[in-house]
Amino acid sequence: MNSDDERYICRCEEVTEKEIREAVRAGARTVTEVKRWTRAGMGICQGRSCKRLVERILAEELGVSPAELEPSTVRPPIRPVSISAINMEETRERNDREEG
Ligand code: FES
Repeated sequence: MNSDDERYICRCEEVTEKEIREAVRAGARTVTEVKRWTRAGMGICQGRSCKRLVERILAEELGVSPAELEPSTVRPPIRPVSISAINMEETRERNDREEG
């Protein structure tokens, strides 16, 4: 075992390099498949911190360059917004219009 194997690649989901390599060796062929297999890239940063590392490891395991990999799907991080916060913003805008 390589000393890098236990290094966290995806810190949000605590996925190690070893787990990513195992996923590829078990059949994952895209970043999306690695993500589904291991949850790497599904954390709070949505892969902003780990995506390139996962791509590099995947490409290395497949013997291709990262540019040759199928592009992965990316979602922006989402934060819940309460209805009262939206209502408060609408009230503030209405008050500004009435005063302005
Ligand atoms: S480090 Fe992987 S999702 Fe944040």
